[in-house]
Amino acid sequence: MLKRPRRNRKSEVIRNLVQETVLLPQNLIYPLFLIEQPKEKHEIHSMPGIYRQGKFCIFDEINECMNLGIRSFVVFPVIPNELKDKTATFGVKNQFYVQTLKEIKTRFPECCLISDIAMDPYSSDGHDGIVENGKIINDKTIEILVKMALLHAEHGVDFVGPSDMMDGRVLAIRQALDANGFEETGIMSYTAKYASGFYGPFRDALDSAPKFGDKKTYQMDPANAREALMEMELDNQEGADILMVKPALSYLDVIHRLKTNCYTPIAAYNVSGEYAMVKAAGRNGWIDEKKVRDEILISIKRAGADMILTYFAKEWALDYKNQNF
Ligand code: PBG
Repeated sequence: MLKRPRRNRKSEVIRNLVQETVLLPQNLIYPLFLIEQPKEKHEIHSMPGIYRQGKFCIFDEINECMNLGIRSFVVFPVIPNELKDKTATFGVKNQFYVQTLKEIKTRFPECCLISDIAMDPYSSDGHDGIVENGKIINDKTIEILVKMALLHAEHGVDFVGPSDMMDGRVLAIRQALDANGFEETGIMSYTAKYASGFYGPFRDALDSAPKFGDKKTYQMDPANAREALMEMELDNQEGADILMVKPALSYLDVIHRLKTNCYTPIAAYNVSGEYAMVKAAGRNGWIDEKKVRDEILISIKRAGADMILTYFAKEWALDYKNQNF
């Protein structure tokens, strides 16, 4: 035997020397759920350690994260059901969500703040688009998404994050941003977002599950990967700054394909159901939760994600700081 791969696994220092993938706090984006009551904080039942919280709690959370090296955040609004309607009217108003976005950037100018562009948090139908006769109407939805994007840009976000999967929305948003002097506001596009069972806990958190049907006429079929490349091509042509694959774990091949087929940075969303499964099995003593968490995060990075949106961000960064690996 001339080649014995085990020689490079002999000691920790050699293993570290040959390590191909490194994860750093700066690669992580922490999703936060905002409620209107400024000082309230409620744990999400299916996502232990993750809260729906008011702005003051969010400021504290961001402060803690910044000290741990997590400096990028995506914020989702939790909207009371009585404020939801068919056209997501509340989403284009000057309300607590956009005001808080602005306050975050004022208090933490050095953070990277990403907003959510989609109708579902505000939609009485629980869909990401306008529903007419049981159908999701693409182009009318885009008009609303564009208004949201301009509103968020005015309130100072670094990126808007269209998570809706309507066709052509990246171009429409890019043109509107540019026409209104927001050339510096970026677009983190949910490029390949699959119609997934892994979003369950998120929809519980927002109470945003579809009131009828499913999201298969706009979110992608889990069986398709070539189609993700088409979405990639479109988003690149339409001016997206970052392309996202979502969920992450069942779609590592898709992350890899996007990474090797274009030069735009790739994000992966390690979604709520992926987090909940690890937490649940960990609590039952069925897996070593931290070991599995670290393996999941490094696998997403190894597949090609430059950055990872993950509910593990804060706890992982805390362990990273204390080197509890
Ligand atoms: C919809 C949206 C979803 C998530 C974020 N924005 C999924 C959906 O309801 O279709 C899921 C995030 C997660 O599960 O962590 N605009």
